[in-house]
Amino acid sequence: MLNKQTIEDVNVQHKRVLVRVDFNVPQDEAGNITDETRIRAALPTLNYLLDHQAKLILMTHLGRPKGVTPKYKLDPVATRLSELLNKPVKKLAESVGPEVESAVKAMQPGEIVLLENVRFHPEEEKNDPAFAAQLARLGDIYVNDAFGTAHRAHASTEGVAHYLPAVAGYLMQKEIEIMGGALSQPQRPFVAILGGSKVSDKIGVIENLLNVVKVDQLLIGGGMANTFFKAMGYDVADSLVENDKLEMAHKLLGEENGTKIKLPVDVVIADAFSQDANYRVSTPDAVEKGWRIMDIGPLAQEEFREYILKAKTVIWNGPMGVFEMKPFAKGTQAIAHYMTQVQGTTIIGGGDSVAAVEQAGVADQMSHISTGGGASLEFLEGKNLPGIAALNDKK
Ligand code: 3PG
Repeated sequence: MLNKQTIEDVNVQHKRVLVRVDFNVPQDEAGNITDETRIRAALPTLNYLLDHQAKLILMTHLGRPKGVTPKYKLDPVATRLSELLNKPVKKLAESVGPEVESAVKAMQPGEIVLLENVRFHPEEEKNDPAFAAQLARLGDIYVNDAFGTAHRAHASTEGVAHYLPAVAGYLMQKEIEIMGGALSQPQRPFVAILGGSKVSDKIGVIENLLNVVKVDQLLIGGGMANTFFKAMGYDVADSLVENDKLEMAHKLLGEENGTKIKLPVDVVIADAFSQDANYRVSTPDAVEKGWRIMDIGPLAQEEFREYILKAKTVIWNGPMGVFEMKPFAKGTQAIAHYMTQVQGTTIIGGGDSVAAVEQAGVADQMSHISTGGGASLEFLEGKNLPGIAALNDKK
């Protein structure tokens, strides 16, 4: 259970509730939102607060702007949120200052305003106390529902929590309880699947899963497996390898829990990094000169399937191959389908694996899909996320 206070632990009626959401959504060239998952994910919190007659002042970042940047203004987000809530959402021109303060002063219970992108102010990312205090002036209570940004110690995610009663929203609560519950008291067997191109991004996660969480098996695919292969002495030819991580990979394999790491027994190799390349199945120790590993092979899929189907808890982060290219998406797609057959909890830990389960059309069959990319990785590393740590503990 979450040891932080939530929106249900405070009286929000007629209060100004300053809510940090993560509406950092992808947009196309024309500014249309191409994936509104994060907006929808905040609706339970927003609806609860509206039903309890709070005045809602929402804040978020969008993108990584350096100063005011028109394409990162939040007008399209406000429009979409307003449609989803079936209620007007007033987008303010600024995130702090006298005009914002008078707009908030004029609010009635049940009304919503959205502040302009907090990252238009460099003070946001610097976690500047004066900026955090300016934000805090807008609310009586602070709610953090931005799990996706909880790994950032910024003014709107961390600093502001020092000035107001600070509680978690439902999305934050759900993310922490499901992922935290799986990590602290997993139903076993507990299998973790890691992929993606770089092992350097996942070293902390591997160490935490093997030595602290003590997963029963750690299945590794994707480009990151290549560094392990090379560390085992295999010649992986032109495959992506992080040579500066070979020693680390060797050490992980040699540790007491290193036997829990399962690498693909076969792989798909290609003669170019292209979807038009020639490709075939190979063992990882026999990659031909000029070829590279692009996906896990059919025997590896089968072996991974057996582990996954026996599991009671599965956490997956990172694709098994270059899944953006159709010929090399099969391993990732296969894992997505095996996940649907698990008699237990299935968690997608954000990032590219979310795109993979969506591409496979099985997203709605997962127990939980995290809305955090970087945040869920840090969570899987066992780190304390500043946006969560700053919230008030349960009494
Ligand atoms: C994300 O998309 O992972 C979060 O919104 C955080 O964004 P950031 O990496 O730009 O801080």
